[in-house]
This record gives sequence, C-alpha cells and structure tokens, in this order.
Amino acid sequence: TTYSLLILPGDGIGPEVMAEVRKVIGWFEQNRGLSFDVSEDLVGGAAYDAHGVPLADATMAKAQQVDAVLLGAVGGPKYDNLDFSVKPERGLLRLRKEMDLFANLRPAQCFDALADFSSLKREVVAGLDILIVRELTSGVYFGEPRGIHDDGNNPENEGGRVGINTQRYTSGEIRRVARAAFELARKRGNRVCSMEKANVMESGILWREEVQWVHDNEYPDVELSHMYADNGAMQLVRNPRQFDVIVTDNLFGDLLSDAAAMLTGSLGMLPSASLGAPMANGRPKAMYEPVHGSAPDIAGQGKANPIACILSFAMALRYSYDLGAEADLLEKAVEKVLAEGVRTADLMGPQGGTPVSTAEMGDHVVKALSAL
Ligand code: NAI
Ligand code: MG
Repeated sequence: TTYSLLILPGDGIGPEVMAEVRKVIGWFEQNRGLSFDVSEDLVGGAAYDAHGVPLADATMAKAQQVDAVLLGAVGGPKYDNLDFSVKPERGLLRLRKEMDLFANLRPAQCFDALADFSSLKREVVAGLDILIVRELTSGVYFGEPRGIHDDGNNPENEGGRVGINTQRYTSGEIRRVARAAFELARKRGNRVCSMEKANVMESGILWREEVQWVHDNEYPDVELSHMYADNGAMQLVRNPRQFDVIVTDNLFGDLLSDAAAMLTGSLGMLPSASLGAPMANGRPKAMYEPVHGSAPDIAGQGKANPIACILSFAMALRYSYDLGAEADLLEKAVEKVLAEGVRTADLMGPQGGTPVSTAEMGDHVVKALSAL
C-alpha cells in the first residue's frame, strides 16, 4: 500500500513545523517499510502571493483525491488588510467546506512531563486523555436567517439595530457526527458523553434525541450519557478524566475544546483532525492540522514547537491510514522526548533551562523513534 498525503505548510511557522514532520515520515519509510506518496502545495498567504487566491482550484482538486491532507497554519500581518474573499483563512474554510469535513476532533491529552503546565493541578489532569468531537459544518455559525438589520426604531427603546444568527440542525447532520463519535469511542474507552442545552433549546432537544437514536439502533455497545453543556464546562475543569469522547455542536464545541486545550499546557502541543464522509476505500476524507496559528511573533526564528504538527500526523496515521500501532509509537516517542526534559522555548517553565530549536526537537523525536 502507498499512503497518499498532501502537505500544505502555509504561512509563518507552518513550513518550519512541517519540515520536522517530513523527518518523521522519512523515518517511517526507512525503518518501517511504509510508502508515502507525499505532494506539497500552497495555502493561505503563500497561495495568495503566488496565485492571487488563498487556495488554487488545482490544490482543491488534489485535496479531494488524497487519503489525507496535513496543513500547517495560515495567516499573518502581511495579509491582515486583504479583502475578506481572499483572506488566508478562506483557504482553510474552502477545504473544510468542499471536503465536507463535519467532525472536528480535538484531543486533550496530558503528558506527564508537562502536567505542571496545565491550568489545573497535576492531580486533576495527570494521565488525562479525552477527545472532543465538535460538529463543524452547521449550527449557529451557518444557520439562516442571519445578518444585522436596522428596524428603524429608536435604539434606546424598542428596536434599532438587530443582530441575528440561527441555530439550526437537521437529523442527518446530528446523526453523522454522532456516528463519528461512537466509532471513535469504540477504538478508545467506549464511552460517549453528548452535550447540548436541551433544557432551553429546541435544537438541543433534537440533538439529544438523534444521538440517543443512533446509539440505540447502531451502537448499543457504547456507553452513552447526556449532559447540559454548561454543566459540561464545569465538569471539564472539575474532573476532566471522567470523560472519554465528548460529542457536541459547533458553538459549544468551539468553546469546550478551547477550554479543554488549556488542561494540557502549551498551544504548541495540540493536534486536531477534521473528518468527513467515508471515501471509496472506507476511510473518511480527512484534514489534519495543529490547533495553533502561524505565530508571526516567532516565525523564522527556529523557536516553534513542532510537536502539535507531529501529533497531527500521528492522528493521520491512526484515522486515515489505519496504522494505529505506528501512531502509538509516534506518540510514545514524543512522550519519551518530553520525559527526557527536551523542551522548545514555549515549554520552558519558570525554572528556565536551555530550549532546543524546532529542528532539534524534530531530531529528538526521530531519535526516540529509533530507541523505542
Ligand atoms: P497563534 O496560535 O499563531 O499564536 C499564539 C501564541 O502562541 C503566539 O505567542 C505564538 O508564538 C505561540 N505559539 C503558537 N504556536 C506555537 C508553536 N508551535 N510553538 C511555540 N509557540 C507557539 O495565534 P495568533 O497569534 O492569534 O494568530 C497569528 C496568525 O495565525 C493570525 O494571522 C491568525 O489569523 C492565524 N491563525 C491561523 C490558524 C490556522 O491556520 N488554523 C489558527 C489561529 C490563528
Ligand atoms: Mg475557537
């Protein structure tokens, strides 16, 4: 088997962290006999500079054909004043939309060596390993009607300007993301907690009923619980280890996954995946990317932590190539490097020390792969 991968390094630190993933791919080819068909293309500001658009049609077409897309980051001050239609993040949005990537996976995993970086106490987060599945293509960020209207009334009294967004979900949209969550749970701790606000929202009632329906009819073996999302936010910081997989809508998922991120420490450590419908080979359409942005404040200085991007590639190994053992190995290598005290600048504690560069961190991970 040859595993196809489209690499879109993007802007800022994107190309820097992607170079370290290349080393990891090379290691798996040389030492595990795996064969990757890697192509590389432009996205974001880099694509705008070359083509006048943040994602060329040819790149979009390529993304539709590969087993997986791995994206670095897009954006930067140079592009901040561009017209909305060609802003770097539009490249990202186009990929998500046209590949119909409806399930956004945000793992929150606490490596023991970094437990003291968590916003919470070590004893609350040590060993934490949860996965938030956020619905990504619908809900209040997309629902119609939307807009700002002026109803002509006195803004100090009964009217004036009105801002409108609509939370709208269909059964099908809820069922497909619920299925993704149940499938993932079967490969982990076999538990799903669904979060909504069925107490005050009709879309929340529908969400709860449809998730329950998918469970009862298709995944009765997986343990399912329901929780109001506000309580979920509380539970995430009170006792996050009670969860395995959390499935929730676009808006709540946006907030809950950012809160969960801070349970684990640095932004430079966080991977993500966005999955769509199964392709002909049975594996989902998929794009993987670190949670962080292009970090213009440190770009070009060799300071970026490549681990978020490396762990995003580990997710690709697991979910797009069905190489679970290799994904485990790569995660263990990262854990080993951290346990040895190797740190990029973002992982330096108050006690200080000498940080390693982006390239050195990549070298350490590759060395750890060989040592395991
Ligand atoms: P950011 O994530 O780029 O940076 C926030 C802070 O975290 C900065 O101090 C940065 O140096 C640090 N940081 C981020 N990644 C790091 C890494 N791997 N290693 C070490 N330190 C790291 O977010 P910010 O500053 O809000 O946005 C910068 C640019 O990135 C903007 O143009 C924004 O639009 C874009 N952006 C792109 C995203 C994407 O491509 N998915 C996501 C978020 C922001
Ligand atoms: Mg967010």
